[in-house]
Parts: sequence; C-alpha cells; structure tokens
Amino acid sequence: MAHGYPTDPVDEDLERSTNKVMAVGAVLLVAMALAFPVYLQFEPGARADSRADNVTSLANEGESIWSFNCSSCHGQDGGGVTAPALNSKQFLQEATDAQARQLVAVGVPGTQMSAFSQDFGGPLTSEQIRAVITYVRSWEDDAPDDPEWRTRPLAAGSTSATTTTTPEG
Ligand code: HEC
Repeated sequence: MAHGYPTDPVDEDLERSTNKVMAVGAVLLVAMALAFPVYLQFEPGARADSRADNVTSLANEGESIWSFNCSSCHGQDGGGVTAPALNSKQFLQEATDAQARQLVAVGVPGTQMSAFSQDFGGPLTSEQIRAVITYVRSWEDDAPDDPEWRTRPLAAGSTSATTTTTPEG
C-alpha cells in the first residue's frame, strides 16, 4: 500500500528536467531585464546621431543650392547684399523653418524675391528648399545681432537707382 506517486522514477526525471527548463528561463529573463536599460541607454544616442548626420548632409546640399540661387542677393555668408540679412539673429529667431520654406517656395510678390518652388514655376524641388533652409538654420548658433537686417540691404540695393532723385520731405 505504501507505494505512491512521489517515488515514481519517471515523475522525478520529469520534475528535474522541468526545473532545469524553468531555471534557464529565469536566467534568460534576468539577462533581458538587465540588458534592456543598457539598450535604452545607447539606442536614443544612436538615433540622435543619425538625425544629426541627416541634418548635416541636408545642410551640405543646401550650401551649394544657396551659392547658386540665393547668394547673389542675400550674400554668400547670408549677410545681405540687396536682400535681407538672413544670417541675422533677428531673422533666425523670428522665422520658423516652415515659414521660411513657405516664403521661399512662393516668393514675395512685387519684389526681387521670386518663387523658387517648381510648383510656382521656380527651379527648386521641395526637398531642395528644405535643404537650403536647413543650411540657413545652421547659421543660428553664431548669428550676428543685426537690427537693420531687413531694411539696410534693401536700401543699399536701391541706392544707385533712387538716392539722387529722391528728395527728403
Ligand atoms: C534676385 C534677388 C534674390 C534672390 C536670388 C533671392 N532672394 Fe530672397 N529676398 C530678396 C528680397 C529683395 C527679399 C525681401 C522681399 C521684401 O521686400 O519683403 C527677400 C526675402 C527673402 C526672405 C524673407 C526675409 C524676411 O523678410 O522675412 C527669405 C527667407 C529669403 N528671401 C530666402 C531666399 C532664399 C533661400 C533664396 C535662394 C533659394 C533667395 N531668397 C533668393 C531677394 C532675393
């Protein structure tokens, strides 16, 4: 009568191997739990790095677009020749990227600032406009303070044509 389940050798083997599987599972679980914070620590950095790489290559592309399409009026360094100084703190802090892209796309009617988007008969794709504004934005960190960023270059641009013929008052 005393023989019963606990001494059954098959059951003991089964129990041992089940314990082993559970132990391995527990070790793996702990390993994953430990590894996850490490992963979290590196992953956002990796993503920020590739974001920064993207911005850099977009700005590089934007620089040559700037040289060909914008620098004759706005200056190679953005300081303004016959058009506003876009490298100024005033412009860069006032305008969002979206506003600047929009303005470059449609232009300013009635001024020298023409529409640059191909949608409006200009030469640039929206990706190229994004690139050139990314380049302009890259000046922001050491942008000069230039309160007359908008008026001074425009006045300079009209000097030769109008100063001699415009009486004061
Ligand atoms: C033929 C000259 C000329 C060229 C080329 C030119 N611009 Fe302009 N741009 C102007 C003038 C002039 C204005 C000022 C318009 C006004 O009176 O509001 C202006 C204004 C702007 C403004 C708005 C500044 C503000 O007042 O807020 C932006 C942004 C701008 N230009 C970007 C560009 C970019 C980017 C390019 C090249 C893709 C470019 N411009 C090419 C003449 C030019």
